Order: sequence, then C-alpha cells, then structure tokens
Amino acid sequence: MAWGLKMPEIKFTKLFINGSFVDAVSGKTFATTDPRSGEVITMVAEGEKDDVDLAVKAAREAFDHGQWPRMSGFQRGQIMIKFADLIDQHIEELATLDSLEVGKLFSHNKLADIPSATRMLRYFAGAADKIHGETLKMGGPFHGYTLKEPIGVVGHIIPWNFPTVMFFFKVSPALAAGCAMVVKPAEQSSLSALYYAFLAKQAGIPDGVLNVVTGFGPTAGAAIASHMDINQVSFTGSTEVGRLIMEAAARSNLKPVSLELGGKSPLIIFDDADINMAVKLAQRAVFYNKGEVCVAASRIYVQEGIYDDFMKKAVETVGDWIVGDPFDPHVHQGPQVVDKEQFEKVLRYIEHGKREGATIVAGGKPCGENGYYIEPTIFVDVKEDMVIAKEEIFGPVMSLMKFKTMEEAIEKANNTRYGLAAGVVTKNLDIANRMARSIHAGSIWINCYFAFDSDCPFGGFKMSGFGKDLGMHSIEKYLQVKSVVTRLHDSPWL
Ligand code: NAI
Ligand code: MG
Repeated sequence: MAWGLKMPEIKFTKLFINGSFVDAVSGKTFATTDPRSGEVITMVAEGEKDDVDLAVKAAREAFDHGQWPRMSGFQRGQIMIKFADLIDQHIEELATLDSLEVGKLFSHNKLADIPSATRMLRYFAGAADKIHGETLKMGGPFHGYTLKEPIGVVGHIIPWNFPTVMFFFKVSPALAAGCAMVVKPAEQSSLSALYYAFLAKQAGIPDGVLNVVTGFGPTAGAAIASHMDINQVSFTGSTEVGRLIMEAAARSNLKPVSLELGGKSPLIIFDDADINMAVKLAQRAVFYNKGEVCVAASRIYVQEGIYDDFMKKAVETVGDWIVGDPFDPHVHQGPQVVDKEQFEKVLRYIEHGKREGATIVAGGKPCGENGYYIEPTIFVDVKEDMVIAKEEIFGPVMSLMKFKTMEEAIEKANNTRYGLAAGVVTKNLDIANRMARSIHAGSIWINCYFAFDSDCPFGGFKMSGFGKDLGMHSIEKYLQVKSVVTRLHDSPWL
C-alpha cells in the first residue's frame, strides 16, 4: 500500500445481530473493492430478508423488554459518550477503512468526518436527558400532559459517500431517543459500520439495540422499508430509491419515513465578491469528496461583471486541485468514484454536456493509470435546460452560468425540482438576506459552503426530501407524542 500505511487487518465482515457477529442465513458474501485499483479488499456477509427479520426480532426484544428505552436519558448519554471515546481511540483504523472502500481522503476522515461523528454522539448524549413533554392547560376539569416516547424499532438505510457521517446522522439521535435500530450501510461501504457496531457493544450499548445488516438495496434495504415491525425508516440516497422506500412504507405498516435525497444546489456569486475567495469556495463546493456530495454546488451562477475574470481564475487554479491516492496528504481528490457504475455515470454526463453544446474549459477525462479517477472538470456555455444543469451528476463537474440581476439569480436558483442547499457570495447584507429568504432550500450558506454542525438542522425541501438530520429537530422523528389526561373532579356533564 502506498504512503507507508500497512494494509489493515480487516476485523469485522459479518452481520452484527443481537450483539454478535454472524454469517448471513444464506451463507452468501459479496466483495468490497478498493477504488484505487478495483481490487477486492475483502468479502462481506450478504444479508437479505431473513437476516433483516432476525435483526428486527433482536431489536424488538431490546426495545419491548430491554433496558435501553427504560434507563434514564442520562445513563444513555453516559454510554454514548463512552462510545465516542472508544471511536477516538480507534480513529486511525476507522479512517483507513473509509479511505480503502470509497477513496475518501484519509486526512479528512481523521480530521473532519470521524471527529464530526463523535461530536454528534456527544451532542445527542447531552440531549438524551432533555427529552420531555409539556403540561397542558385544558378546558374542563382536566389535567393534561404529554410524554415523548421513543418511536420503537427504527431502520436506517445509508449511502456510501460519507459512510461514517451518515451512520451517525441517523444512529446518534435514535440512540438518544431510546430507540433500537437496524442499520443497512451501502454495499460499497460496509466495513466502518461493522466496526462501529463492535465499539457500541464495548461501550455498553445493550445487545439488540444497534444491529448492522450489510447487503444490497433491493434485498436487505427493501426488507427494512417494508417490514411490519419497524416503526420508522430514515434514508439518505437517491431520489429514485427514496420513492421506493416511501411506497414500501405506505404498502406495509404506514411507518413514517424521512428522506434525504439528491440535490442540484446553486452557488450564486455576486459582482462585489472577492474573486480569489469565491473561486476557491466554488472549487471546494463542487469538487470536494470528488463531487460525491448531496449538497455539491453543481450549478454555479456568477454575476456578469466578474464572470470572465472568475472563469479565467477558476481555470488557472484548477491544477492546484490535486487528484491522487487518498492516503497521500497532499491530495485533494481521491480515486474518483466508488464503483464502476458511478464512474461511468459521471463520464456519461460529461459526454452529454459536450453533446448538448456546453464547452469544457478544464478536465473532462479520466486520469491515473488505474483506478477510478476523473479530472476536475469545468463546463461553460451551460444553459438552464441542459441535462448537466438539471440532473445530479455526483462527480467533480462544475457548470458555470451567468446572471445579471438578483431577481434573475433567484429565479434560476429555484428552477429545479431539488431544494437541498444553496450558497451565496456577496458582501452586501441586503442581498444576502433577501437571497436567504427567497431560495427554496433547506440549508443556505452565505460566504461559506458545507458549514455543518451537530446543532444545525440539515435536510431538503421539494424533491430533496423531508425530515431533518442533526440538531434537536432530528430527535423528533425518533419520538412520538402521547397525551395523558386526568380528571381532576366531577363535573355535571361527566
Ligand atoms: P442508492 O439510493 O441506490 O443507495 C443508497 C442506499 O439505498 C444504499 O444503502 C442502497 O443499498 C440502498 N438501496 C438501494 N436500492 C434500495 C431499495 N430498493 N430499497 C431499499 N434500499 C435500497 O444510491 P446509489 O445507487 O448508490 O447512487 C445513485 C445516485 O444516487 C448517485 O449517483 C447520486 O446521484 C445519488 N446519491 C445521493 C446521495 C445523497 O447523499 N443524497 C448518496 C448516494 C447516492
Ligand atoms: Mg442504486
């Protein structure tokens, strides 16, 4: 392995059900591959419906009769803090797993993704003993109050682009709420999820509370979405699968779902911006994590006064964005895409853009001798109705477009079925505030991008989905409100 790192021993490759690592009922396994080379890293247990049934049974028992929902929120919080401490102690191994499987930068895993995951655990640990209902002033001779109770057994179906962060987006608030859960990581990124399950047990999370079933979407994922004994499902991934999950929930037990789906997020740069800063921000906003980011700023609108300068500088500096081995500390962009299908999808979009009449001014090709690397690519002459301006590419592809007035920028920014995030670059407070109010998206970043925090709710508008991850809002989807009413004294009409 490059960069002086020993190939780690892969410790956990089986399903984690009821506190133990077990083979799939069918005995089947599948390969997980290294996108630097396409080589197999290891085989992983392939969970299917029968395995999901076993995991749900364990979770039901843990929820219906076990300690986790019945202990105090403070006790749950203490265990979650221990879980976070254990992750800190294994950070190198965990960071290595996410780099190996999906080509994410090792340094970012270690300095950003995993620390943000442990912050989430600690944030929601602090929230666990602050979940409470209200006292109601009712009409009539009644005393009313509400209880907020954990919703039950929940299912988490997560994607591969941020294996660790997505795991804790879902697991941390669900643990705080007192739920038991079945997590299905994406088939491209199983290994860190299994490691987290192991650490959860070490921390004292009771058996059955946190189960991990690795496997594929149409089998293991679909079994979660349609399960009669799962009370809620949280999903992050494609719009297409989000729709299937909602349909499955509707056809089975009407479980509520929360969906964090794709995006086509605009970044709008006004004439008064500091161009150097804006170019850097834009490159990061669309090339970061190889563009495999749901909030990637895949539509960049630049006001006409600085458009030419902006484009020139963006092209001049694109070479500073280094593509290479994700374990190399100097690299900005790892092996492009996690698997062959995604890699080819991005290249197809680039070809489509060319055919539709957009012009490539940088990149546009695969690079590197082997593995799945794609050059950071910049398109100009992009029109609103082109496919590359409308569909989620999920690759390092910047589309530059021009606008004249703020009103035009607002209209263009909102001209999409998605509504996940948006960025605005301006020094003018009036413009910034008016843009923030006018754009239909769940997160608005002013003079910044990707500004996430445990306390800051995240989730889309429109076809980017519904339901929030992060922040106190996110606990609500794992809770249900019960009203309790007591008669205080007899009244004539009782
Ligand atoms: P996907 O939506 O198929 O996969 C996400 C998760 O859903 C995985 O765990 C997968 O196993 C599961 N899944 C797949 N089919 C399922 C089904 N029928 N029932 C239940 N679960 C199912 O996404 P995929 O195929 O990995 O990527 C396709 C595109 O989706 C990407 O190119 C990108 O545009 C978008 N995407 C968006 C993400 C986001 O962060 N919002 C994350 C991943 C992908
Ligand atoms: Mg898929």
